[in-house]
Amino acid sequence: MTKIAVVTGAAGGMGKAICARLLDDGFHVVGVDIAHHTDGDKNDATAHPRFSAKTTDLTDDAAVSALFGRIAAAHGGVDVLVNNAGTCFMSDFPDIPATELKAQMAVNFESAFYCCQAALPLMLGRVGIRKIINISSNGAYNFNVFDPVHYRTSKAAMDTLTKDLARRYATQKISVNSLAPAMTETPLFGVLSEETLAKAIAEMPHGVAMQPAQIASWVGFLAGDGGDISSGNVIVLNQGRDVR
Ligand SMILES: NC(=O)c1ccc[n+]([C@@H]2O[C@H](COP(=O)([O-])OP(=O)(O)OC[C@H]3O[C@@H](n4cnc5c(N)ncnc54)[C@H](O)[C@@H]3O)[C@@H](O)[C@H]2O)c1
Repeated sequence: MTKIAVVTGAAGGMGKAICARLLDDGFHVVGVDIAHHTDGDKNDATAHPRFSAKTTDLTDDAAVSALFGRIAAAHGGVDVLVNNAGTCFMSDFPDIPATELKAQMAVNFESAFYCCQAALPLMLGRVGIRKIINISSNGAYNFNVFDPVHYRTSKAAMDTLTKDLARRYATQKISVNSLAPAMTETPLFGVLSEETLAKAIAEMPHGVAMQPAQIASWVGFLAGDGGDISSGNVIVLNQGRDVR
């Protein structure tokens, strides 16, 4: 039976690569984004027969609830949820407006929280080990790099959600892990000045940014059989940059 994977932030750099990987692995992929999905690039999944595109603002809990209601009606349940939607607001402490703090937590943390709340009941009782994969950030753990404190905090909150749900649902065979990448070449690089971007890439041990398909291959691994025995982990992907 075809397994159902829901991927948030599906129209973004990482999201498109994750959708492409999960389609290659045989999933039916429901891609969700606030933005329109198609731009015809090489990772465009919208024409794939096993891809369904949904447009939803994931910071709106009622909209998320309605979205998963539609997914349940169309597909009968969810096997894999990838919480990938996110952004990085760049104001620096202490000059972070309250509105920006709230927006940062809403986009990066609350959206994932609402999706877990809505998806988990649809995962219960399905065949095999079901998966939640949260796209966190190395920025939650490396305090030398540029990341603003509210971005770090939103991802640290996400990783605590990962661990709580991993513990809570272990015996129900739902595994929950975070992937925490460092510099990965996506449109999100646009929030950085050229100077900050060049410095951050130069600090990567391989001298290059990571590629979305590389992160997507870890998502594919966790979504597959190998991921069955991992839960509650935050897996940092950074070419070994922070090893001391
Ligand atoms: N690119 C990096 O270097 C990097 C590093 C670490 C973590 N991340 C994380 O990876 C994830 C994917 O980011 P990306 O680099 O592909 O950036 P991106 O900007 O290309 O993609 C993010 C996507 O999330 C969507 N989104 C934003 N707000 C939304 C909302 N309210 N509802 C629904 N969708 C919404 C955007 O429309 C966009 O398509 C993010 O969570 C980001 O924090 C990225």
